[in-house]
Amino acid sequence: MLQTPRGTADVLPDEQAYWSYVTAHFKSICESYGYGEIRTPVFEDTRLFQRTVGEGTDIVEKEMYTFADRGGDSLTLRPEGTAPVVRAYLEHGMHRLSQPVKLSYIASIFRYDRPQAGRLRQHHQFGVEALGEESAAIDAEIIGLLLHLYRSVGLTEVSLQLNSIGDAACRPQYIEELASYYRSHVKALCDNCQTRLERNPLRLLDCKEDSCQPFIGDAPHTMENLCGDCDAHFGVLKNSLKAMGISYTLNHTLVRGLDYYTRTVFEVWPQTVGRQSALGGGGRYDGLARHIGKRDVPGIGFGTGIERIILNLQRQGVVPNEQQPFSVFVATLGERAATYGTGLVNDLRQRGVRALIAYRPRSLKAQLRQAGNHHADFAVIIGDDELAEGQVLLRNLGASTQENVAESDLMQTLERLRDAGRTG
Ligand code: HAM
Repeated sequence: MLQTPRGTADVLPDEQAYWSYVTAHFKSICESYGYGEIRTPVFEDTRLFQRTVGEGTDIVEKEMYTFADRGGDSLTLRPEGTAPVVRAYLEHGMHRLSQPVKLSYIASIFRYDRPQAGRLRQHHQFGVEALGEESAAIDAEIIGLLLHLYRSVGLTEVSLQLNSIGDAACRPQYIEELASYYRSHVKALCDNCQTRLERNPLRLLDCKEDSCQPFIGDAPHTMENLCGDCDAHFGVLKNSLKAMGISYTLNHTLVRGLDYYTRTVFEVWPQTVGRQSALGGGGRYDGLARHIGKRDVPGIGFGTGIERIILNLQRQGVVPNEQQPFSVFVATLGERAATYGTGLVNDLRQRGVRALIAYRPRSLKAQLRQAGNHHADFAVIIGDDELAEGQVLLRNLGASTQENVAESDLMQTLERLRDAGRTG
């Protein structure tokens, strides 16, 4: 028996209610903040991610689904959504539009990761990116939008983790200080940190090994090593968040797993599980565009895992209050009635009424049971004899009442009942 590949999941109609619910909230919030939707291809030139996410990161080193296509080009299934959006911005000359250009996306993301609850090899993200604006006012807007999304779907108890990791002016010096601090403890570090120390010392702050935790605690903080411009930028962000009534935890170990970040980085954690399963994360990436095109474009954005949002909603017992659409079951008895029923169901559907029918002759009892299973509001019961007299039986399945309706009035009657259901 063949099954879904490890780390992937089917979304069955029952769970779809959660997907529609969170998607509707995301779309309406993006609309009110002025973020237009963009779609980029599922695969991109492999170099796009190597140059931006970074050669030394887990994503590029171990997690990408990279393949040569039949023409010999190296392509990679999108392992994150930011680089493709910046690529599209540059490719379509969006720098000529009024800035910032504010974009949102809903995208499938592929990472060859170790699957567990809330960690998949194909997951889906809601994301937004604002390009062409360096003021921290937009950093605050983006963070506010993300928290607005969680609040509106009903996720409570989330915590915003915030850090600033500097820029090209101040980070090299900080990295040097961090590396020299770690070199003095090198023998006590885990193997992974020992190898990373020379390639990407910032990532040592993100190590999950118990033995490395004391060193992380005592390591020099980026926030205390910012240049004047980065420090001022971070100050504006903190003040803006305060003005918006958003509280945060300053977290000097928050460095994120992608190389393109500058200045602001943030994550939102569910209170109980912490960083291993962040609900969302993002930050500023003022140097990213330069790696793709010959242009400096400041940018900031976030990505938030849809499966993780739904998992946390389910953990909290939040059930989307989806209204069942008005629906009609057409039950038929006899051959003529069955043919008439096929036409009726088709007409109802053309008029936007959800209509169902049994595809083979069954007893009336079995058909009404089927109508109940489908949560139909009404059953239209059609028999050959009644039809000959131009009559059908309309049964209200909730109230268990029924009445004869002239065949010629049926469509109008059902539309009236549907519209009454919509407003009532
Ligand atoms: P990221 O932190 O790698 O950032 O992913 C964003 C979110 O996607 C995570 O917080 C998590 O909710 C979800 N996620 C990540 N990996 C998995 C997985 N294996 N299974 C399920 N969910 C997952 C980015 O991807 C950046 N592009 C975000 C960004 C946008 N930064 C700036 N703009």
